[in-house]
Order: sequence, then C-alpha cells, then structure tokens
Amino acid sequence: MLELILLLIIIFLLLILSAVWPPDSPWAPWWRTNRKIAREICKLAKITRSDLVYDLGCGDGTFLITAAKEFGAKGVGIEIDPLRVWIARIRVWFNNLLNKVEIRQEDFFKTDLSKATVVVVYLVPKALEKLLPKFKKELKKGTRIVSRKYELGIKNYESRIKDNLFLYKF
Ligand SMILES: C[S@@+](CC[C@H](N)C(=O)[O-])C[C@H]1O[C@@H](n2cnc3c(N)ncnc32)[C@H](O)[C@@H]1O
Repeated sequence: MLELILLLIIIFLLLILSAVWPPDSPWAPWWRTNRKIAREICKLAKITRSDLVYDLGCGDGTFLITAAKEFGAKGVGIEIDPLRVWIARIRVWFNNLLNKVEIRQEDFFKTDLSKATVVVVYLVPKALEKLLPKFKKELKKGTRIVSRKYELGIKNYESRIKDNLFLYKF
C-alpha cells in the first residue's frame, strides 16, 4: 500500500514538473497544438492538398491529422519520443490516414527536409537556432515555415497572428 502511494506521489510530481519543462523536451506533454490552432496554422500557411507538410517534433500528431483531414495535405511527422510516436501512429491509423500521414521516430536534426513544401515547428529558440542553417541548406525555394510561439532568428516574417504564429517563406 505504501509503495502504491509513493508511486502515485512520484507520478503526480512528474506531471507537475513536466508542465514547466522546456517545450521541446520529450518530457513536456502540456506544450501541444490543439485542433483550433492547427487550423489557424493551416490557414496562415495556405495549406492545400498539393502540400507535403513536415512537423518537426510532431508530438501526438494532432497538427498533421488536422492538416490531412481538413486541408487534404500529406504529412510527415518527426518525433524522437517513442511513446508519442506510437500515440501519433495509432491516432493516424484511427483517423484512417495511413495513406496520407507518416510518423517517423527520428531526430529532426538528421531528417532530410528537401521534399517539404511546408515545415511546422513548435520548439524553443535554442532548437530553432540550430535548425536555421539546416533550413537554409535543405529547403527548396518557396517552402513555407510556420513557427509557433517563437520567431526564427531571421528578419522579415511574411505575417503573424497575435504574436503566436509566424510564417516565413524561403
Ligand atoms: C512542444 S512539443 C510540440 C509537439 C507538436 N508539434 C505540437 O505542436 O503539438 C515538441 C516536440 O518535439 C519533440 N522533440 C524534441 N527534440 C526533438 C528532436 N531532436 N527530434 C525529434 N523530435 C524532437 C518532443 O518530444 C516534443 O514532442
């Protein structure tokens, strides 16, 4: 009985701690994009069925599922945390989107981004700073990037919504 109580206390403390962990940490479940914001991102980037969208750190896959279901886009989700990878894969399967959305367990710093037409990121500035040279090297001309919450370290975003979503065109 005592062990069970201790276990519950530890789980509770971990949940509390996870709320203040940096958003790109695999231990930060509260930093996620819901359907409403996913729709806003799709509209901001004018996502259509001809797009191939890469979500770097795709979490539970909500953004890609929304982009595929409601905007017809194909998606590739890159996620390092195995638990979230499986949650995202199950959700994709559940939504009957296996032909449209692929979830890869991968480190996004090692992912080839050259096929993307849209890239979506919800990551801390440090990770964005590290990704920027990769974007410049690999992305085709015309690729759109939407960053949630943090600006990329370059000037001149195309547009923004309420300090929260930033659109760039490469
Ligand atoms: C703030 S969450 C965003 C999740 C999702 N994009 C959303 O908006 O709901 C950041 C995600 O990035 C993942 N992540 C962090 N570093 C990563 C890396 N190097 N490669 C792949 N995924 C990573 C984390 O596991 C986490 O799921």
